[in-house]
Amino acid sequence: MKNLLLTVILLCFCLPFVKAADQKMILISTNETDLILQVAPNGRLYQTYLGNKLVNESEFENLSWNIQAGTDGSVSTRGWEVYPCSGAEDYFEPAFAIQHNDGNMTSIFKYVSSESKKLDNNVTETIISLKDDVYPVEAKLHYVTFAKENVIKAWTEIRHMEKKPVTITQYASNMLYFESPRYVLTEFSGDWAKEVQMSSQDLKFGKKIIDTKLGSRAAMHAYPFFEIGLGAPASENTGDVLMGTIGWTGNYRFTFEVDNAGNLRVISGINPYASAYELKPNEWFVTPEFIFTLSNQGTGKASRDIHDWARNYQIKDGKGDRLTLLNNWESTGFNFNEKKLEELMKEAKHLGVDMFLLDDGWFANKYPRQNDKAGLGDWEVTHDKLPNGIPHLVQTAKDAGVKFGIWIEPEMVNPKSELFEKHPDWAIHLPNRETYYYRNQLVLDLSNPKVQDYVFSVVDNIMIENPDLAFFKWDCNSPITNVYSPYLKEKQNQLYIDHVRGVYNVFKRVAEKYPHLPIMLCSGGGARCDYEALKYFTEFWCSDNTDPIERLYIQWGFSQFFPAKAMCAHVTSWNKNTSIKFRTDVAMMCKMGFDISLKEMNDDEMKYCQEAVANYKRLKGTILDGDLYRLVSPYDTNHSSVMYVDKAKSKSVLFAYDIHPRFGEKTFPVKLQGLDPNKKYKVQEINLMPGQKSTLVTDGGTFSGDFLMKIGMNVFSTAHAHSKVIELTEAH
Ligand code: DGJ
Repeated sequence: MKNLLLTVILLCFCLPFVKAADQKMILISTNETDLILQVAPNGRLYQTYLGNKLVNESEFENLSWNIQAGTDGSVSTRGWEVYPCSGAEDYFEPAFAIQHNDGNMTSIFKYVSSESKKLDNNVTETIISLKDDVYPVEAKLHYVTFAKENVIKAWTEIRHMEKKPVTITQYASNMLYFESPRYVLTEFSGDWAKEVQMSSQDLKFGKKIIDTKLGSRAAMHAYPFFEIGLGAPASENTGDVLMGTIGWTGNYRFTFEVDNAGNLRVISGINPYASAYELKPNEWFVTPEFIFTLSNQGTGKASRDIHDWARNYQIKDGKGDRLTLLNNWESTGFNFNEKKLEELMKEAKHLGVDMFLLDDGWFANKYPRQNDKAGLGDWEVTHDKLPNGIPHLVQTAKDAGVKFGIWIEPEMVNPKSELFEKHPDWAIHLPNRETYYYRNQLVLDLSNPKVQDYVFSVVDNIMIENPDLAFFKWDCNSPITNVYSPYLKEKQNQLYIDHVRGVYNVFKRVAEKYPHLPIMLCSGGGARCDYEALKYFTEFWCSDNTDPIERLYIQWGFSQFFPAKAMCAHVTSWNKNTSIKFRTDVAMMCKMGFDISLKEMNDDEMKYCQEAVANYKRLKGTILDGDLYRLVSPYDTNHSSVMYVDKAKSKSVLFAYDIHPRFGEKTFPVKLQGLDPNKKYKVQEINLMPGQKSTLVTDGGTFSGDFLMKIGMNVFSTAHAHSKVIELTEAH
């Protein structure tokens, strides 16, 4: 009895001091970042660290302050639980919420096991299994680390074995915790022709949510990525910053919550809005991937890391080449015929680009696509307009010496179409309310497998008929409206999720059958730009706004997360107050194309464009695959400048733009970045108009990387909408 008493007393004293180090610790690391998770004495999993890589593993045991031992030896209420559930003692936003068969709405996940395996020298996957020990519900947390690129990808799988389906109402991909004196969020918001406008705000106590409920044209108002400056606003070259993005081409949600203790929780996942999901027994619910990087050298480094990761691992044909093109949307709209297209193909060749891209307006017969009011869904060439069909266009392009690409919008239908007449139940729309039309169209119900087959067949039929077709532009102009799926019937709460999964089924089938087919992702401009879709697309259209001044801001915004290779930029006639040179120089910093009638140009402009295309083809290895350094922000000054450096640091291209300088404004030299200080570089201004002399003092000179990075070059002027493109080549 005395012994028992002693044991109890001892236990009472000792348990609170059970060292977290005695428990299982899981290390998820890149070359520069450690995420450390630890099982607490209560069997639950906590985040003990996320930050710069720690040198001494022996010190990890000191990290257990986020697992505070309670007096009874368990963990106290406010630990940083990795996947907290509703109904437990954490009173902030949970990662997961469920209603069990018996109506109970609580869950607690306990650690079961974990395994880590190397997928190759650079990539490691860790899978952690958690289980509720009261209800048969389990979660698998996945973390894939890309060591060299310093990127971590995280998602979760959920399954249960209850008798009947359960309802899950929150199902985050991932949750992260931070402790810092200040959290400054940069978000990207916008609208048609106003994509990715950057703005920043301090996060204080409570929640800030970035989400979308648009369903299909999902990112029209809010973009699926964010930056958080830790301790100070995120800046380009210094400071700690978290950059995160979610791969989900539908409703997503980021929740940023500062709690009572001043800690920040970042919860990323599908937006559960109107989406309480019924999960059948033994069925895995797989969340989208949340992709993030932590940089201690500002957003510049974080962007370069994400760009490398995207090219190496995520984007379709990320390491491959990209085609320059001439598109006809801006110059002809719906108004073209075979003869006109033949002329444009010849113009494409004359310009020197690789391909002609035919846009909207080539299809439908009963209700021909003469404008955006009819025809969507009827993917048969309009016989009156193009009597010899697509094969003839492919051949004409071949004869002209260019490739041929075509526009489609296969997920949509105009009510004025044969498709809608035949299958009204294939469109998402309400049976018992007046229909609201966005751009005169409806979204097809991709939760329906028959509709998936149909959408796949749009691409497949065109490819079967035209195996030499080189490119698709895949548009998506409407959000989901009139939210009702005739297919899902009483399970409308699954529509937003099952629709996106249906979209992915189609994307996957296209990618499997046509693995080398380049496809541009487009959504009424840049409203689809996430890293899940980009597994199936080689590039995306950033915006219909091709005014070069606006594009400087839009491209600056997208470049935070996407490499130039994925960002389509075309030279058009938007803002004719700016020169062709300025418009081209702005497009040239991304994946360049043209969408302009060459007839608008005089001889000098034409010559300039031909030379710019040739320069681009010579330099695109550096621009599309090199490292981006954002030197001067258009948000901060009246100018902007970026440069690209190839991986060998032997070639570089610098772009400098004067936007709207003030009279007599003093301009400062721009210090270059990313060069080898010990190498010498020959500096040469290119993309000059015929007869134009460079005003660059350094033009033609040879300078060390050290000089160029410490002293810099005077690349700006006080002229409005003025630009310079400067090539640097290692001099031996
Ligand atoms: C919206 C796209 O953003 C444009 O580039 C163009 O393809 C039109 N749709 C065609 O309808």
